[in-house]
Amino acid sequence: MKHIFQNGSDPNAPVLLLLHGTGGNEHDLLSLAQLLSPSSSVLSVRGNVLENGMPRFFRRLAEGIFDEEDLTFRTKELYDFIAEASETYGFNRDNVVAAGYSNGANIAGSLLFHYADALRGAVLHHPMVPLRGLALPDLTNVPVFIAAGTNDPICSAAESEELTSLLQGAGASVTVHWENNGHRLSASEVYQAADWFRAAF
Ligand code: MLT
Repeated sequence: MKHIFQNGSDPNAPVLLLLHGTGGNEHDLLSLAQLLSPSSSVLSVRGNVLENGMPRFFRRLAEGIFDEEDLTFRTKELYDFIAEASETYGFNRDNVVAAGYSNGANIAGSLLFHYADALRGAVLHHPMVPLRGLALPDLTNVPVFIAAGTNDPICSAAESEELTSLLQGAGASVTVHWENNGHRLSASEVYQAADWFRAAF
């Protein structure tokens, strides 16, 4: 997958897996990584799917209606790519924390929904429930930060609460931070995520 890898100053800090929103690319969240964990190595990946020229991590049939077959396929593709990158760059595969926004948060959520060992933790900015009806793996000891919007037009507050309870039901420890800036990735939620990150890892 197209990506950027940056070596961090602390080899023990979690490796940040950066996952952009629809229409973004692997450069978008590099500054967010600096705020979240400045000493971390960074693996920032570009989604392999194009929607009218806009990169995404999986296909959708309409806004909020996901192509579940493609989502599952792309989730495995990303899961395998993380393992491959850990060999290429020599980082610990078991020390990867995702930070994603919107479509990137949704594929990060899908990694959590499909695999017990994909992520050590996750920072999800405006995620949705990636898919329903799946038995989640055991996510005990996986800390998750969710930045949600009371007035997010793409992900309702009810869906944010549903995602929280699904992850908690699988054993994850979930912290939810509420904003009222629609679907926007706001500076204040990034600062909250950084405070949470320092405490969690
Ligand atoms: C998605 O398709 O993943 C969500 O609707 C968010 C977005 O618009 O990218």
